[in-house]
Amino acid sequence: MQKQHTAISSNLIDKLAKEHSLTANEYLYLIKNRAECSEYLFKNAVDVREKIYGKDVYIRGLIEFTNYCKNDCLYCGIRRSNKCAQRYRLNKEDILSCCKQGYELGFRTFVMQGGEDMFFTDEILVDIVKSIKAKYPDCAITLSLGERSFESYKALKEAGADRYLLRHETASKSHYEKLHPKEMSFENRINCLENLKKLGYQVGAGFMVGSPFQTEEDLANELIFLKKLNPQMVGIGPFVPHKDTLFKEEKQGTVDLTLFMLGLIRLTLPNILLPATTALGTIDPLGREKGIKAGANVLMPNLSPVSVRKKYMLYDNKICTGDEAAQCIECLKQRINSTGYKIVVDRGDYKEINLIK
Ligand code: 5AD
Ligand code: FES
Repeated sequence: MQKQHTAISSNLIDKLAKEHSLTANEYLYLIKNRAECSEYLFKNAVDVREKIYGKDVYIRGLIEFTNYCKNDCLYCGIRRSNKCAQRYRLNKEDILSCCKQGYELGFRTFVMQGGEDMFFTDEILVDIVKSIKAKYPDCAITLSLGERSFESYKALKEAGADRYLLRHETASKSHYEKLHPKEMSFENRINCLENLKKLGYQVGAGFMVGSPFQTEEDLANELIFLKKLNPQMVGIGPFVPHKDTLFKEEKQGTVDLTLFMLGLIRLTLPNILLPATTALGTIDPLGREKGIKAGANVLMPNLSPVSVRKKYMLYDNKICTGDEAAQCIECLKQRINSTGYKIVVDRGDYKEINLIK
């Protein structure tokens, strides 16, 4: 049975479903009144997603290939000042063997994710990207390596990288400065996203839900920011404190707000590739299934060798750190089947279908 929702919130959701855009105040109204209208939002989000992507759920094989990081983001478990983190790097052979295993399991996108590790020069990365592409020409390569120069992004694109994930973390400069040390700049982050777009990458932005100091107004502005940026992917997940960071005592983000934001993002950017993230699965055992039912259509299971999994701890209690990739994918298939969706063997590229006639 559908819960009661007031005329104002349902009218706003109808408007969003039709026009794919609201004002910041309208988004804010919905966020504040989410308890009464979340089911109606999710119904609309699922409808629009199915028009574009059907019941398909795309999987991306995540290879966490280095946890060295020169940055010191206040929230992140692999920040450089966390002396408790055991650092590791995978070499090219390790990475290629993750891809081999992933390919056999049906993955057609590999995501190379790491901290900002200067050991991985352009030359080394270009060689790795070219090697993956040569072996798996039918696969997409997504990079998630943080902030690099225009020239570096260009070299990696020319080597064959297709997509790049760089969460902006927050669209508010003043909020950004509360989450990052002085030497990191909001402008540079946004500039990197612009450069990636210029270079023809499919680009993913994103933010944490419930990060310290975030307000509901900030969340409303995230949607305005995303609409303007118009990325192909958006990664969001709840903030989860990490025991060895300054934010260890901060509250974690909530499932309900994360799901609501997923629904709003789907209606704002109907074609978006939207993961139900591991962080969401970490704070709720059914988080990823709930994410799919709120409008998400991507999952990013871990392909990293089990021996390093526990070392890539961005936040406490991260799930799936003990299982082989094959077990993870089997578990996910069952979970997704139970929601009425299906995991497909596909690169899962962005679809440009225009819903507004
Ligand atoms: N809680 C949730 N997400 C986090 N990330 C980093 N630290 C945390 C945390 N404590 C996210 C950031 C980053 C992505 C790789 O992981 O948004 O961009
Ligand atoms: Fe590594 Fe933030 S701590 S990029």
